Amino acid sequence: MTKWLVVGALLLSPLAYAKKKECTVATEGESPMAKACREGGRDAAKKKMKELVGRANKNGGDFKCGRCHEDTKSFKLKDNAPDDLKKLLETAGGG
Ligand code: HEC
Repeated sequence: MTKWLVVGALLLSPLAYAKKKECTVATEGESPMAKACREGGRDAAKKKMKELVGRANKNGGDFKCGRCHEDTKSFKLKDNAPDDLKKLLETAGGG
């Protein structure tokens, strides 16, 4: 029985891996997005970012994706992004 569970997990895990879109920016570190990336790939990171931006703006912030990202395809970071992320997290009240 256990043996078949192991075989099943081995067969299924590459499929799950292929379906998940990997992050290309937040690939290391302990930011909320990096953690989300490790768990659920880019989709999870996007969800997390939207949640943080929403919360920060509700607290009086004025954050937009384009302030820190060059585009919403590669999500390449602008130079100000790491510093601004700290402000975003502060305004949002934490990750
Ligand atoms: C205040 C700056 C800032 C804003 C605003 C911001 N982001 Fe980010 N975002 C970052 C930083 C910095 C990282 C990388 C974190 C790291 O390297 O751990 C990141 C990472 C990401 C990633 C992971 C990408 C990858 O492939 O690794 C996604 C997706 C993302 N952001 C989407 C968004 C979306 C969508 C919005 C708008 C709702 C947004 N971000 C707004 C700073 C910001």
